[in-house]
Amino acid sequence: MKTKIIIDTDPGQDDAVAILLALASPELDVLGITTLAGNIPLEKTQSNARKICEVAGRKDVKIFAGASRPLVRQLVTAEEVHGDTGLNGYDLPAPEIPLQPQNAIDFIIETLLQEEIGTVTLCTLGPLTNIAMALTREPAIAPRIKQIIMMGGGYFEGGNITPVAEFNIYVDPHAAHVVFNAGLHLTILPLDVTHQVLTTKKRIDAIRQISTRSSEIVAAWLSYYQRHDEAKYGTDGAPLHDPNVIAYLLKPELYSGRHCNVEIEIASDLTMGETVVDWWGVTTRAKNAYYMRDVDADGFFTLLTKRLSHLPS
Ligand code: RIB
Ligand code: CA
Repeated sequence: MKTKIIIDTDPGQDDAVAILLALASPELDVLGITTLAGNIPLEKTQSNARKICEVAGRKDVKIFAGASRPLVRQLVTAEEVHGDTGLNGYDLPAPEIPLQPQNAIDFIIETLLQEEIGTVTLCTLGPLTNIAMALTREPAIAPRIKQIIMMGGGYFEGGNITPVAEFNIYVDPHAAHVVFNAGLHLTILPLDVTHQVLTTKKRIDAIRQISTRSSEIVAAWLSYYQRHDEAKYGTDGAPLHDPNVIAYLLKPELYSGRHCNVEIEIASDLTMGETVVDWWGVTTRAKNAYYMRDVDADGFFTLLTKRLSHLPS
């Protein structure tokens, strides 16, 4: 039985690698890719999702456009990391895959109502605006979701857009607050994990040595994407965030964490978007999240590189 997933995303080079990993993995049935504003505005993230599927040779994938801005706050983007196109590093032609006419939020709701209860996993790679809007518009979908696996948050590592907030949560903290308080059980791949997964030269070279067009594109994307965080952190390579969501689905044994309570700060300007992680259980708040803290980074890159080699050249 394939695992049915919806990928919610704001591509972004790291989102792109996550999408390619999912499309290269026969265990997964990608029911659709829903896009939103995040790393760059929506008109580019939806176009980028279509380009990425064409890189994978998958013109069959359904791609939807969703939220063009956060629920409450003004949109904050990250062109300084991803470039003006969001996929800087390799120039791709305008996509031929059509954008689906249905809104992403309606697609999420319709799919969860139509598919057998507890069989659809939501893989979120960006802000949680689409998911929050779907849950608010149709609360009946909450118990029908198998699980939400998200890249977001940070605790031991702090934040990456403010000292305490991670970008996906910070962009739309009100959406995150809705999702974290919807009675769902969330699996979180935070900065505490992704900062251990660095795109070192050796690892990018291994991807480039696959010697296919798609591997050349991935190596070019990562070479561009890493320059911002290499300068920021002084490391060989940058944290590769979003593919960890898909890798967790494929090989959860690469990761370890703890069930605990995670709440979202939405009141303080100083700590807006902070994920407050009760790692040591000092409160009686519900344990709403499986919060990952450790990862086998070499195991992750072995999986990623092997799967990327399965993509059509
Ligand atoms: O903080 C990292 C996250 O923000 C990743 O999902 C990256 O693509 C950006 O969306
Ligand atoms: Ca992302």
